[in-house]
Amino acid sequence: MEHTRRDKICDLLRSKIYDREVTVKGWVRTKRDKKTFGFIELNDGSTIRNIQIIVDFATVYGNTLNNLQDQNTFANWKEITTGAAVCITGKLVESPAAGQPVEIQAQKITVYGTADPESYPLQKKGHSLEFLREIAHLRPRTNTFGAVLRIRHAMAYAIHKYFNDNGFYYIHTPIITGSDAEGAGAMFRVTTLNDQQPPKLPDGRVDYTQDFFGKMTNLTVSGQLEAELGAMALSLVYTFGPTFRAENSNTPRHLAEFWMIEPEMAFYDIHDNMDLAEDFLKFLMQYALDHCIDDLEFLNKMYDNELIDRLRSVIASRFERLTYTRAVEILIASGQQWEFPVSWGTDLQAEHERYLVEKHFGKPVILTDYPKDIKAFYMKQNDDGKTVRGMDVLFPKIGEIIGGSQREEDLESLRRRISEMNIPEKDVWWYLDTRRFGTAPHAGFGLGFERLILFVTGMANIRDVIPFPRTPKNAEF
Ligand code: 4AD
Ligand code: MG
Repeated sequence: MEHTRRDKICDLLRSKIYDREVTVKGWVRTKRDKKTFGFIELNDGSTIRNIQIIVDFATVYGNTLNNLQDQNTFANWKEITTGAAVCITGKLVESPAAGQPVEIQAQKITVYGTADPESYPLQKKGHSLEFLREIAHLRPRTNTFGAVLRIRHAMAYAIHKYFNDNGFYYIHTPIITGSDAEGAGAMFRVTTLNDQQPPKLPDGRVDYTQDFFGKMTNLTVSGQLEAELGAMALSLVYTFGPTFRAENSNTPRHLAEFWMIEPEMAFYDIHDNMDLAEDFLKFLMQYALDHCIDDLEFLNKMYDNELIDRLRSVIASRFERLTYTRAVEILIASGQQWEFPVSWGTDLQAEHERYLVEKHFGKPVILTDYPKDIKAFYMKQNDDGKTVRGMDVLFPKIGEIIGGSQREEDLESLRRRISEMNIPEKDVWWYLDTRRFGTAPHAGFGLGFERLILFVTGMANIRDVIPFPRTPKNAEF
């Protein structure tokens, strides 16, 4: 097949240079025909908008539709159905029709691949999101998933841009880990041992010394501990990679495989950490408004009429900062009926977080100084002996979007805490070494990428903001 240059539809729709030859390649969204001419709406994924192509049958096929019946060229027109991949060369002209700046007058059409209307699952519009999850391999071709995927890309790019522009180094932390010290959740085992007859120790347990890495290994739940090692040399670092949690949580906010952004900063305290988190999130929202407005307007219209206003209001707000203890007082004083009762020392549930954000303060909230017993071993201990310098950023509609803390930099305090939590020192000797050699105050946080995308797209279910969601009992695609 001859190779032809391709003009991206997003560029043509912006172009003001008319009456020139262009070539578009993409997938047919709709086709209509009359006696002597037809219309094709074509999408190539470069934008949510389609370009309209006018096919004058006399020009393209040398005849009218009725007279094309028995000719090979008619097969070509018949093959052009919703979902077919085509290449169209023609003249770009200013469109007389309202609602579109330009259209293409076709001269030549090549069909790369047909899509049988009888069996193509996206032949009709308006499928439910639940149905589209069952055809995750095809759903990128819908307007909704095109929009979500373009926004997801833009956010990933903006994250790297933000950190690069602010002097952070991207550090690649391992996905397979021999440490399970974080305690952030159940882990997925990584092993090459024979699953029928693994080697056993005398006491009957599996002998992982004979496994691939010579020890038990799992998929990581977080890149934080390794990021801390980087921060203790490069000062400002971040990780951005996949993380895995084998919890059986079937909620609209949990995935078993999700992406996390984890900056880690030497010489930062909890206040610097909060300032960074707030500035970072606002930058990302502004980036989406500046670069993804077509997609946001589509999602605003179709799914969430308050989306764009909500993004603007978060950017304009000053996040409310208060302690966990104060938040618990507010929740108790609220007189609300909770599914999970609140008292000092219990972990806050989504219903509590959303009450604070949506009802009480009406803006994002950062809670700090949590009870040490509900937080990880590495968080800096306060002098009260009860709380730690953790922080959660809570967002409207989402609840927790960021979790982080100032880290315990004092070797002896950290050793006491890991012993209280029954973490064997031999598992974290390398982590403790940073407190032995040149320890320094430092802090960091983790932003759940898909929770960010939920917020920015206004989608309601986390399964709809990642191309191939991994959730309990679901890894088909
Ligand atoms: O609060 P988490 O568990 O914190 C950590 O893992 C720390 N090591 C982060 C750090 O300080 N470097 O997770 C951080 C964020 C949460 O706030 C949430 O946005 C997201 O990761 N998250 C999930 N997102 C989707 N599915 C899940 N199962 C998630 N669990 C956490
Ligand atoms: Mg958390």
